[in-house]
Amino acid sequence: MFDTLSLTHLPKAEQYQQLAEQARVLMVGETDRIANAANLSALVMHALPDLNWAGFYFYDGTELVLGPFQGKPACLRIQLERGVCGAAATSRQTQLVPDVHAFPGHIACDAASRSEIVVPLIREGRLIGVWDVDSPIPARFDVKDQSGMETLCQIYLDSVFGIR
Ligand code: SME
Repeated sequence: MFDTLSLTHLPKAEQYQQLAEQARVLMVGETDRIANAANLSALVMHALPDLNWAGFYFYDGTELVLGPFQGKPACLRIQLERGVCGAAATSRQTQLVPDVHAFPGHIACDAASRSEIVVPLIREGRLIGVWDVDSPIPARFDVKDQSGMETLCQIYLDSVFGIR
């Protein structure tokens, strides 16, 4: 059984270093995108403080469709021109949103969310989906979180599509 430890007491850089190691261990030898997405969501939600949602939306060729996640039930489908997730998918840039209420078109799946980070999942120029994490704390995410989350997404993509 994998023991998911809370990393709350550690500085951010170490939190993400340990998370990356744990993510690699969790996904080694498994290529199923749903299985690995489910475990990464659970790992991050349990290990990091002050989160209320962590999970995936996958691109089906038309829009973003809800994938494995931890948190309250969320919107099933997001059009590419909508919300923070749509902005990450179309710009192909990580969206760091310190105040979701100030983000035009933000989609409130959980009314408790105050800040959000969304990382686009891109493989060989192709949009795979997005990784979305929400917090009830304003400005919960900074560039250290961005760097750490982008590394986790790379580990995820490598597990599913192979290391490039
Ligand atoms: N807030 C997101 C929608 C997804 S939920 O946060 C899970 C957005 O604006 O795209």
